[in-house]
Amino acid sequence: KRLVVLVSGSGTNLQALLDAIAEDGPEGYGAEIVAVGADRDGIEGLARAERAGLATFVRRVKDYDSRDEWDRALTEAVAAHEPDLVVSAGFMKIVGKEFLARFGGRFVNTHPALLPSFPGAHGVRDALAYGARVTGCTVHFVDDGVDTGPIIAQGVVEIRDEDDESALHERIKEVERRLLVDVVGRLARNGYRIEGRKVVIQ
Ligand code: GRF
Repeated sequence: KRLVVLVSGSGTNLQALLDAIAEDGPEGYGAEIVAVGADRDGIEGLARAERAGLATFVRRVKDYDSRDEWDRALTEAVAAHEPDLVVSAGFMKIVGKEFLARFGGRFVNTHPALLPSFPGAHGVRDALAYGARVTGCTVHFVDDGVDTGPIIAQGVVEIRDEDDESALHERIKEVERRLLVDVVGRLARNGYRIEGRKVVIQ
C-alpha cells in the first residue's frame, strides 16, 4: 500500500513509520511512504523525509486566495502520489470538503488525547488544565468535524502531579508513535471496513 504522510512539526510520528518500514521492509509492514506533505517550510518533519529520500511538497494557506483553493491544491498534491492511505501525523490544518471527498475513509489522524475528550489544537494542555488523571492518544479516521471521526485505537497515559505540557506530551508521544505504527500497518495489511462509528480491521 502507498502512504502519503502529512506533517507540520518535528515529524517523530513520521520517523516512527519510516523506522518500522525500514525494519520490516515495505512488504512485511504492508506499506511504503511515497511522499510527505506539509503546510509550512523549514520543519524537521520535512528534513526527515528528505533524509529518507522521499518526495516532499509544501502547500501554505497564505499562498492561496481562499481556504478552498488551498484545500484544492493540497488535494491535488496528495492525489499526484496516488496514495491508498493518507496519514496526518501532527498535521495542524483542518482539511476541507474537496480533500475529504477525495480521501475520506482512507485519511487517518493521530490526536494526543482520548477523544472525544480534549479535541483541537491543545489537547495535551487542555487535559492537564482540566485536572484529568489519565489522558492518552487516539488514532481515528478524519471526518468533516474536528477530531470527531470514527476511532480506530487509543492508548492511555497517566498524568503525573509534576507534569507540565511538554513532559506530558513527550510521554504521550511514546505511546502514540507505537499506536500509529501498529494501526497503519494493520490497516494496510488486513484491510478494514468503517461501519458508522465502528472500524473493523479484517
Ligand atoms: C503529535 O502528538 C500529534 O498528535 C500532535 O502533534 C504531535 C506531532 O508530533 N498533533 P510529531 O511532529 O510527529 O513529532
